[in-house]
Amino acid sequence: MDYSRFCYFASLIISISGLVFPVMVGSLGINYGQIANNLPTPDNVVPLVKSIGATKVKLYDADPRVLKAFANTGVEFIVGLGNEYLSKMRDQGAAQAWVKTNVQAYLPATKITCITIGNEVLTFNDTSLTDHLLPAMQNIHTALVNLGLDKQVLVTTAHSLAILQVSYPPSAGSFRKDLVGCITPILNFHCKTNSPFLINAYPFFAYKSNPKQISLDFVLFQPNQGIVDSKSNFHYDNMLFAQIDAVHSALASLGYSKLQVHISETGWPSKGDADEVGASLENAKKYNGNLLKTIYQKKGTPMRPNTDLNIYVFALFNENMKPGPTSERNYGLFKPDGTAAYSLGISGTDAVSANTTTTTIGALAPPSPDSSSPGYLSISAAVKERYCCCISQLLFPLLLVNYLAFRLAF
Ligand SMILES: *[C@@H]1O[C@H](CO)[C@@H](O)[C@H](O)[C@H]1NC(C)=O
Ligand SMILES: *[C@@H]1O[C@H](CO)[C@@H](O)[C@H](O)[C@H]1NC(C)=O
Repeated sequence: MDYSRFCYFASLIISISGLVFPVMVGSLGINYGQIANNLPTPDNVVPLVKSIGATKVKLYDADPRVLKAFANTGVEFIVGLGNEYLSKMRDQGAAQAWVKTNVQAYLPATKITCITIGNEVLTFNDTSLTDHLLPAMQNIHTALVNLGLDKQVLVTTAHSLAILQVSYPPSAGSFRKDLVGCITPILNFHCKTNSPFLINAYPFFAYKSNPKQISLDFVLFQPNQGIVDSKSNFHYDNMLFAQIDAVHSALASLGYSKLQVHISETGWPSKGDADEVGASLENAKKYNGNLLKTIYQKKGTPMRPNTDLNIYVFALFNENMKPGPTSERNYGLFKPDGTAAYSLGISGTDAVSANTTTTTIGALAPPSPDSSSPGYLSISAAVKERYCCCISQLLFPLLLVNYLAFRLAF
């Protein structure tokens, strides 16, 4: 083989691996809420985040301890500006100062890629809060422009699914009529700044309010008949996808079908009050286990089959100081001591406990900096197993080609 053919093979290998590897890296996000007085220090949270294969973390604030602890880890961050600060951000100087202190100060070591301005603002039905939302988003964006950071840090806000008037069937999805007037300018902002539309979607709430009519298997991603949307003819085998596509329809109905939709929160509580039907360890394990499996399979929804799901699971920890029903304090994948709240078995590894998983991970992947700490979820073993399988299946032929190219060339 001559040199040019060798180069051809070498470049083929490089381009194949360049194309294939990013695609295989699943993109799991996790919400790191801290309404609790018993959580591990951020340094000890880094290995927990890595153990579930999460590459993205969403905060509800811009906690300096967390942003410092995750410096140089490669983990991407969404930081949050709380609802209580929206009115202050009408002042451009205040917005500029906020971005300098809470974002610019940590770049580039900590990969902050997005800022959420407020959480579920529109469904508070508080018109003065709503009036502050878009100006705050605009001023934070302007601050980023002034600092030359607007290309690397996007600005958005997270909505409750309750901004929809109609969510079923998915093709009929539409926004609450009284909100269209304030949503439209926000959608224009997304278009102009190329930022994603964020929605918090909880099939749990839909099930809880209507357990007799809704199939539990459908909401938990378990095998089931699914439903067919008679207008689009799309088949849905899980409720989350139906909810996401209802958002796609609502956006399309206003002329914004090109916007990216990301799921800023979804999850399932492992415990609830007596009247919170469906909140249980078994269901949480199924929902989150199946959800992660779905994310790592890189499936899109029926309306966007070729678009990767961009999902942030809620949440990293059970948060003991959250107000409201018992479920609110029990969404965590981890208990405050860093042990798994439950095993997230996938690919038939349901029985794998947090303890045995640590060893499995050790066998499959380089030891994490804190491999002695408990709390590894079985998902990570299964996920890494999947990666390792994929990588070895691909790597072997690639190495073989490489080897042959080498032998023939010299
Ligand atoms: C907000 O208003 C909508 C529509 O009027 C209503 O359905 C919803 O319950 C209200 N939400 C709150 C939190 O008051
Ligand atoms: C891990 O093993 C220890 C000791 O064998 C046990 O006490 C603990 O409950 C186990 N933890 C889990 C999550 O299985």
